[in-house]
Amino acid sequence: MPTRRKTKRPASRRHGASRTATKRAGKHALLHSPLLHAPELQLIYDTAPVGLAFLTPDCRYSQINQRLTEICGISVADHIGCSVRETVPQVAEAVEGIVAKIMRTGEPVMGIEVRGQKADKSNADHVWTTNWHPLRGADGSIVGVNVVAEDITERKRAEAAINASQQALRESETRFRELADNMNQCAWTADPSGARYWYNKRWYDYSGTTFEEMQGLGWHKLHHPDHLQRVIHHQRHCFQTGTPWEDTFPLRGRDGTYRWFLSRAQPIRDEAGEVIRWFGTNTDITEQLEAEKALRELNDTLEHRVADETRARLQIWNVSQDLLVISDLKGVYLSVNPAWTATLGWPMADLVGKTSSWLLHPDDWERTKAEVARLASGQKTIFFESRFRDTEGNYHWLSWKAAPDGDRLYAMGRDVTELKTAEAKLRETQQELAQVARRTTMVAMSAAIAHEIKQPLGAIVAHANAGLRWLNRTPPDLDEVRETFKYIAADGHRASEAIQSVRALFSRSDQANAAVDANELIRETVALAYGDLSTAGVETQLELAPRLPSVHGHRGQLQQVILNLVTNATDAMRATTGRARVLRVVSKPSDIDGVAISLEDTGIGIDPRNAERIFDAFFTTKSSGMGMGLAICRSIIEAHGGSLSASRGVPNGSVFRVVLPAASL
Ligand SMILES: Nc1ncnc2c1ncn2[C@@H]1O[C@H](COP(=O)(O)OP(=O)(O)OP(=O)(O)O)[C@@H](O)[C@H]1O
Ligand SMILES: [Mg+2]
Repeated sequence: MPTRRKTKRPASRRHGASRTATKRAGKHALLHSPLLHAPELQLIYDTAPVGLAFLTPDCRYSQINQRLTEICGISVADHIGCSVRETVPQVAEAVEGIVAKIMRTGEPVMGIEVRGQKADKSNADHVWTTNWHPLRGADGSIVGVNVVAEDITERKRAEAAINASQQALRESETRFRELADNMNQCAWTADPSGARYWYNKRWYDYSGTTFEEMQGLGWHKLHHPDHLQRVIHHQRHCFQTGTPWEDTFPLRGRDGTYRWFLSRAQPIRDEAGEVIRWFGTNTDITEQLEAEKALRELNDTLEHRVADETRARLQIWNVSQDLLVISDLKGVYLSVNPAWTATLGWPMADLVGKTSSWLLHPDDWERTKAEVARLASGQKTIFFESRFRDTEGNYHWLSWKAAPDGDRLYAMGRDVTELKTAEAKLRETQQELAQVARRTTMVAMSAAIAHEIKQPLGAIVAHANAGLRWLNRTPPDLDEVRETFKYIAADGHRASEAIQSVRALFSRSDQANAAVDANELIRETVALAYGDLSTAGVETQLELAPRLPSVHGHRGQLQQVILNLVTNATDAMRATTGRARVLRVVSKPSDIDGVAISLEDTGIGIDPRNAERIFDAFFTTKSSGMGMGLAICRSIIEAHGGSLSASRGVPNGSVFRVVLPAASL
C-alpha cells in the first residue's frame, strides 16, 4: 500500500489542491508554471471524460484529476506534490520506468493497461489504458510527462464477450462439422438461390465426387435421368417460394449403382425473416423402400390369396351338391347353401332362422336332438343319418358329417336316398345270386358225378356181361368169372372214389397230398382205357421221360384228368377216316421244374371258334356228351397249381397239354 496519509480531507479543499501542491513541491520549477495552473486547464481536468495527470520528471504528481484517482481510490489532494512511490508504491517501479524512458527518448509510451488499485479491491476488475506523452517547455526540453487514462473496462468486457462468443461460434462450428461429417445422412448447404456451397463428408464418400465437381449445379450429374427434371422443377419452386423442400429420388453412388434417398431442405432465415441459406439432407431409404415393397407385395399376395380362397370357398358353397349348413349351438340354421333348395325344394329363406325339427321324420327327432347336443358339447359327428322331408312330402336320407367351432356348428349332409335304395337292391340280388350259385353248384356237382361214374359204370356192365358169358359156358369157367368179379369190384371202388373226388373238388377241401409218379399214372390209365382205345382202332404210343420229378397231389383226380383226355381223344379219332388213329402220350420235365404231359391225337381237331369254350361246363359238340370232361379236368389241374391248355395238332388233330408243378400243394 502507498504510504499515504490516512486522514481524509474535507471535499471543500479539493479545489484548492493546486495551492497546497505548490507549497509542498516548491522546489520544482514546473510546479509553479502558470501554464499548469491556468483556469482553462483546470476546467479540462475537471470535466475531461478521461483520467489526466501531469508527472514531473522525478515522478511527482503535479496535476491529477478526479477521474484518474478512481484507479487507486486516493484523493486528488493526497496526490499533488507527492511522488508516485509515496502514493501508489505498487506501480511506482513501472511508472518510474516509463517516465525515465520518455525523459530519455522523448517518445510517448502508448497503451499501457492498468488495473484498479483500490485498497479494498473493489475496482480490481476495472481496466484503464494509459498513454504517456512528454511535455516540453518553451525551450523544447522535456519538463514532465502527461498521463491520459481511459477507462476501458466496458470495452474490455465487450471484447471478452465477443471473444467468448467467437470462441463459442468456433466450437459450435467444429461441433457442427463433426456432426455433419459423421452423420449417416448426406448434408449440404445452399445459398438462397439454391446454389450448393458445402457438402458433408458422407456425400463425398457416397458419391465419390469432389468439392470442385459439386460446385453450382454439379449435383445434377448424380441424379437419375428419369427423375432429374422433376426434382429440379420442384426444388426451384420451393427455393423461390421459401417453402421447405422434400422429395424422394435415386442418386448414383461411387460404384455406379443408384440408391433411393429421402431429401429435405429447410430455409434458414435471418431476424428479418429473409432466407439466408438452405440446409439440406439426403437420407438413404433404399432398404426401407425395399422392405416396404416386399411388405406390399406380401400384403398383395396375401390379399389375393385371401380373396381367392374366399372366392373358392364361396364357389364350393354354391356349387356343392352336398347340403351345407351353419347353425348356432341350439341347431338354429343361420345359413344354408343352394343345394338345400336343389335337393329338397325348400327356398333358403324358409330354412334359415329355424331348427330342422319341422323337416325331420318324426322317428329321427330325438336322435337328432341328441346329436346336436353332442356337437354343442364339442364332439364331432363322423356318421349320422336322418330323413328330411322335401316339398313333395317325400323323405330323403341324409348322411351327416359335422363339427363345432366357437359358437357355431358346421354340417354337411349328403343325399344318400338312392344309395340306400341301391344297397337294398344289391342285398336282394346278392341273396338271389347265392341261391342261384347254390343251385348251379348242385347241378354241376351232380353232372360231374354222373360224368365221372359213367366210365366205371360202363366197365362194370361190360365185366358183368363177360362174367355172365363165362357162367353160361359148359362147364362154366369159374376162374374167369372170379376174375370178372374182381374187375367189377375194382370198378365199383373207382366209381366210389370218383364220387369222393368230385365232392372234394366242389367243397374245395384240401387235396390229398401224395407223391405221384406221372409215368406210372399214364401207363395205368392207358391200360384202363385199353378196351375203348382198341375198339376205336387207336394205336397208342407212349414217350415217357426216364427221370421225372414226382408231383404231389390227389392220385385219383389226376387219373380222372388223364382218362378224360384219353376218352376225348378217342372220341375225336373215331370220326376220322383215311389216316392212322394214333394217340401219342409224351411226358417230360417242364420248364418250371415240374412235369409236362401232352396227349396228341390225329382226330378231327378243335374248331378254332370253340378254342376257349371247350373248357366251359356243359359245352359239348357231341350228341351224347355232357360237356363236363374238360371243365372238371381244368378245375382239378388248377387246384393242383398247374395248367391245362389245348392247341391244334400238326398236321392234324389236337394237342392237350397238362403242366404240373414239382411239389404242388
Ligand atoms: N381231343 C379232342 N379233339 C377234338 N375236339 C375235342 C377234343 N377234346 C374235346 N374236344 C371238344 O371239346 C368239347 C368238350 O369236351 P368235354 O370233354 O368237356 O365234353 P364232351 O367230351 O363233349 O362230353 P363229356 O362230358 O362226356 O366229356 C367236346 O365236345 C369236343 O367238341
Ligand atoms: Mg369228354
